[in-house]
Formats: sequence, structure tokens, C-alpha cells
Amino acid sequence: MRKTIIAGAMVLVALKATAAMAQTEISTLTANGSIKLTFRLAAPDILNIRAVPVGHSIPESPVKIIRDLPAVTTSFKVSKTDPEVTDCGRFNLTIPKSSTAETAGIIIRNREGKTLLGPGDFQLTSGKLSASFRITETEQLFGGGLQFHSLAQRGTTKTLKVNADPRDDLGNSHAVTPFFLSTAGYGIFVNTTTYSHFDFGKGTANALSFHTEEPWLDMYIFAGPSFHDMLEQYTRLTGRMEMPPRWGLGFWYRMKSDWKADKATDVATRFRDHGIACDVLGLEPAWQTHAYSCSYIWNKAQFPDPAGYVKAMQDQHFHLNLWEHAYVHPTSPIHEQLKGKLAADHEVWGGLVPDFTIAETTKVFAALHQKEHLDLGVDGYKLDECDGSDFTGGWFFSDDTKFPSGMTGAQMHNVFGYLYQKRFHEIFNAKDKRSYLLCRANYAGGQANSTVVYSDWYDFKDYVRAACNSGFSGMLWCPEVRQTESTEEFVRRFQTLFFSPLAMINAWADGVTPWEKGEQVEAIFRKYDDLRSRLTPYLYSAFRHMNRTGLPVVRALVMDYPNDTVTYTIDDEFLYGEGLLVAPVFSGTSRSVYLPEGGWTDWWTGKRYSGGARYMVDAALDTLPLFIRDGSAIAMQPAMKYSGELKSYPLEVHLNPTKVESKTTLYDDDGMTLAYQKGHWLETDVTSIKGHAGEIKVQVAAPRGKGIVPSWTELTLCIHGVNKQPTLTLDGKNIGASDQSGSLVHYDQSAQTLRVSVSPMHSHLVIIQP
Ligand code: GAL
Repeated sequence: MRKTIIAGAMVLVALKATAAMAQTEISTLTANGSIKLTFRLAAPDILNIRAVPVGHSIPESPVKIIRDLPAVTTSFKVSKTDPEVTDCGRFNLTIPKSSTAETAGIIIRNREGKTLLGPGDFQLTSGKLSASFRITETEQLFGGGLQFHSLAQRGTTKTLKVNADPRDDLGNSHAVTPFFLSTAGYGIFVNTTTYSHFDFGKGTANALSFHTEEPWLDMYIFAGPSFHDMLEQYTRLTGRMEMPPRWGLGFWYRMKSDWKADKATDVATRFRDHGIACDVLGLEPAWQTHAYSCSYIWNKAQFPDPAGYVKAMQDQHFHLNLWEHAYVHPTSPIHEQLKGKLAADHEVWGGLVPDFTIAETTKVFAALHQKEHLDLGVDGYKLDECDGSDFTGGWFFSDDTKFPSGMTGAQMHNVFGYLYQKRFHEIFNAKDKRSYLLCRANYAGGQANSTVVYSDWYDFKDYVRAACNSGFSGMLWCPEVRQTESTEEFVRRFQTLFFSPLAMINAWADGVTPWEKGEQVEAIFRKYDDLRSRLTPYLYSAFRHMNRTGLPVVRALVMDYPNDTVTYTIDDEFLYGEGLLVAPVFSGTSRSVYLPEGGWTDWWTGKRYSGGARYMVDAALDTLPLFIRDGSAIAMQPAMKYSGELKSYPLEVHLNPTKVESKTTLYDDDGMTLAYQKGHWLETDVTSIKGHAGEIKVQVAAPRGKGIVPSWTELTLCIHGVNKQPTLTLDGKNIGASDQSGSLVHYDQSAQTLRVSVSPMHSHLVIIQP
């Protein structure tokens, strides 16, 4: 007999069921009857396996990473065989029923019968429950969050612990996620908030084993099969990113901490005077009366008139972001409210450590931040030092700390930053505002908030690798630029920066500015900053795609080309949005670039490349190798010095049609509020295809959505690869050669580009005959 839940009711089901029965959950015993395994579908393509010592259950955690998904009603068909073979959703499982069959272990296959994982087994050793599954010889695994030191995880071990000093390849990082994606076509997530330990075939070849600090395991298997599918499934389970405000995608500059209001105002004005696009200014610790720990109160010696200062910045169209951390100094007005019932029994830098699992804590923070900052017009925060350090020590709470919610320091460690940023989004959202937060720690599930992780670590190659790795869990990462050893390094770093989720110079310690290194550097800076601005509609649409599907804006090549084994080691190039490949230059004026299958066009020269090969490309100091993927659509606006400088403008959509039809969705909304969550948005599909005879069709669908008038006055379709003066029809009307030199239709022979301008409010069809 074993316990089984049928439609929510606990009943006993005889093992020897005479006919196949549908059940929503099945259980079995393993490890000589000491561990109970329960299988359940969280969704047809998400299998949940819980392993618990017999007689115990998994307690409810105050920090819930998993979202409630619609209940799956029928899932398992119990068979009479032993081991039992059962189809459930997108999986096919082999589960031993008896101890004789147990040696066979659990096998997880897809519905086509391909083994994903297994045989596998569970063990309880020293109070920790571990799992071990056989993995195939050739399979590669990726993930673990914001990892700095390795891309492919096979042959490594990782302890996933949030840590401020990611100086080795053992898994420490500001943002860790116990979620991994396998090229064998499955993803795996271990639902825990404690430290988790993974061995990717290092201890035992061809075995994936893992455990947490807990005497149980709660794991989820995603059916994939593609990496894109796994991200869709993982983010369906743990949350999908809300839209950032549009201004957050502009350039950010953080002032030197000791600059007073006059100097900070002067530097801000210099951005406008130099014509350098900038949207966000950040103030570092000295803006507060006490920073380590924090008072959250303006330091009048630095900023005598905080409201006046914020207003002056707003008048120049800057958004203001304040540095802080979560440790509350005795001089802070909220110290008394938090002490005892809302803060831990351990202090950091003489400040209280708040318990963000308690709703009242957020209320206390919200009230003070609202009054002191938000009411003045502050738009965001840099939530620092919520990541702890095993190496510098002394400024985080210890594992044995007790929080009023009952959590221990060890249980809180990995999720402290995650909770901190989540609560601050709630503060803004309560006012119907979006924010784009910086936070130095995050955890699985944190990808649901538009929060960007940053680091004091400063190795350039590691920063680019982190960009690749962050995508595996949908984390946003900012490879911030500070002072550098050489001017060349400064340029190469900021070029890369402009192709990250958040583009920021963090001058908190050195006051470095884009103009201090001479005119040439300033001109290059402006070129990339302007390009970032021009690409805003492309980036914003990519964020919307992430919001809808979980597909990260920045990601490693392997995410899109998992069958191309060359991509398994490429950690110095990344994809940016749907159609751009970025290949940062670390030194010199050329580099080898791998382009995956398909056609590619050099952004700067228009040179065509066939994918599936490496190329040596020139990269003079002002050139960041950048390639456009065939079939993509790149939407661009005129360069603006700040978001919203132009209220309406023509939108260029650059297209490189291929023989395979491709569709891109352009997105617009109000850019600031949560109205988009209620359907106030606009989406326009642009489809293109090149027929075998060379005929190109571009279709613009009528916009979907409600309540939004697009900022676009017109859509200019820039169709590339049109190598001679074409004949074309626009919405069924012939456009002769003589009509192709106007502002509505224009053919440029030298660029081999046809531009056709249409209204964004209606559907259109352009057919081009070669
Ligand atoms: C660090 C942070 C830096 C800067 C500094 C100010 O922890 O990573 O970016 O804000 O604090 O003290």
C-alpha cells in the first residue's frame, strides 16, 4: 500500500491496481523505505519531485519562490508493472515500486521516450537529503545565476551562496539561482532558499548530484526541450520580469560620494552641455547623515536643500537614484519601530537588520522613504551590501542569527537581497510607478522584478562572462564602468556597457567622467550612448518579450544555438535582444568572432557573413564588433539626450528578410506606470520573408492593444539586401522607379536599402520584386 492523493484527498491506494487509474500525484518509498518520494505535475511541462524522510513533511517557508500555477487535474496513469512506467504531461517516468526494482532507479524521459535524467536515487546523509542522477556523456549544463568564472558547468562543483566577492569558481556570487539548463533537453530547479550544492560530474563522472542544507529536496524538472522553452517554464514557475521604466534604459551616472550639491549639479549640467545623453543620476553614501549603517536622512551639509536639488535635476530631465543599504542606524527615525519585533538579533555596522518577510517592516521603510525621498521626486535606489562576504567578513549577519519571523541567518542569507529589492518595488508599485533598481544581491525568483545586479569585482572578461551567464536565469546584470588602467580599457568597457540591461558609469570613488579623457574618447562615448538611445525601441520591445516569454534580453549564444557545440565555450560574445550579436574587444584592434548558423551583417560596414564559422574582424578603437542576425527586425528612434526628449518621432525598422518567415513585435506603452499590466499597451507585428525567386514580402499588422497612442508618427521600413532598383507594390498599389526617390519610398543603391514609410495605425503589405 502507499499513500496517494487523488483530487486533493489523501487515500490509500493498493499497489496492485487492477486497471490504469488517473491520479494527480503518486508517491513511492526509496532508500530502504526511509525516504518518501512524491511526484506531481506543477504544469504539464513541469514535474515536481519531493523527497522527504518518512514521517516528515516540508515546512512552509516564509519566502515563497514558487508561484501558484493552475492545478493540473489528471496527470498520472498508474500501471501494474514494477518498476511502474507512467505517462504524465510531457514526461514519461519509470518509478520503482518495490525494493527489488529500486536498484533500477528513477528514470525521467520525455514523451518521445528520450531519457532526460536517470536512473537516479536519493539518500539521507548527515541530515541532508541528496539526489544523484546519471547524465549522458556528451551533455552540458549551464546556469547557477550570475556566475563570473565558468560558462559550461560540466566537471565543476558549485555551492550556491550569495556572496559579495565572487573571486573563485565555486559558485559564490551576488545572485545565485539553483536552476540549470541541460543540452539533453531538460531544466532543473531546486526549490530552496538555503545554500545548495551541485556536482556536475566532477566527483562521479556522468552523475549530476545535489543537495541543500535541508533534510528534504523539492525539485522541479522542466520539459524544455529548447533553452527558450526552459526559460519560459522556469519563469512561469518563479516569475517573469515586470517592465522597467523606459528612462531606466538610458545612460546612468553615479556621482562621486563626497561631491556636494553644487558640484553634483555642475557635473549634471556638463552632461547636457556636452550633449551626452544621460537619464539617471545616482548619489552615493555621503548624501545621508549616516551611511554605515544608514539613517536614510539627507545630510544637509552635502545637500542643504534636498527638495530644491531633486527639483533642479528633474527640471533638467534627470531621474534620481539614491544609494543605501538595509542596516538601520540608531539615529534613523525608523530605528525604534524596527527594534525587537521587526529586526534580527544581530547588528551590522551598528545597525538593525530588518526582517523583510514581515509586512510591517516594509510599511515602516515605505513611510520613511516616501516622506524623505519619493515625495521629493526620487525615482529609485541602489540597494547595496545585502550580499555578505565570506572573505572580508564582519559586515553581514551570521548563520545563527535569529529573525523575528523565525528564520535563521542561514535561511535568510541567500534571500536577504532578493527580499530587499522586492519590497522596494512594492513601495514604488503602490504609487503606480515602476522603478529600475540596482541591488547587489538577488536570488531565484528575483528575475520577476526589474532589478539589476552589479559588483565591486572588476575583471573585464569576468564581467562579459557574467553577462552571458546572467541570461540562464533571466537575471539582469550591469557591467559598470569605473576608472580604468588605460584609456583603451575605458573605451572597450563602455562600448560593452551600452549593450547591457543597464548602462552605468559608477564614479562613486574616482569621479571619472566621459569627457575627462579627451575629445576622441568623448566622441566615441557619445557615439555609443547615442546608439543606445536610438536602439531604445528595440531594447524596450526585447524587455516586453522577456516580460511575456522569459527570454532574457542579454544571453549566451548557446541559449539560441544549443545544438551547436562550439557555442558551449563561447563566453566572450553575447546576444542582445532578438537580432544583435555583441563581441567585446578586450585588447588590440581586431578579434576573432564566432558567428552561429545563419546569415549575419556587420553593423558598421554592412559586410555579409555566413554563420557556423569564425572570422577575424577589424575593430579600431571606435568599433565594437556588432552583427545583425538575418531575419531580425531592429527598431530605432532618433537619438535623444534623455528619454522623452521627443514626444513623437518616426520609427525606423531595419529588416534583413530571409527564406524563413520571421516575425517581430514592436512594443510601446506609457513607459512609467503599471497601466500596461491592465492592457494599456500597443503591439505591432512586423513579418518578413524572402521567397525563392527573391521576392520580398513585408507585412505590418494593425496595432493591438488599447489606450495607447504610439509615440511613432510613422514606421519607416528599411529593407536591406535589395541589390537593384526594385519594382514594388505598397498595399496593392504599384510604386514605379520614379516614385522611389521621395520621402515615402526611397531606394538607395549604394546601401542596397529600400525605405518605405507607412502609418503605424494600420496594416500594410509591401511586396518587392527583384
Ligand atoms: C560599495 C558599492 C560601490 C559603492 C560603495 C560606496 O559597496 O559596491 O558601488 O556604492 O559601496 O561605499
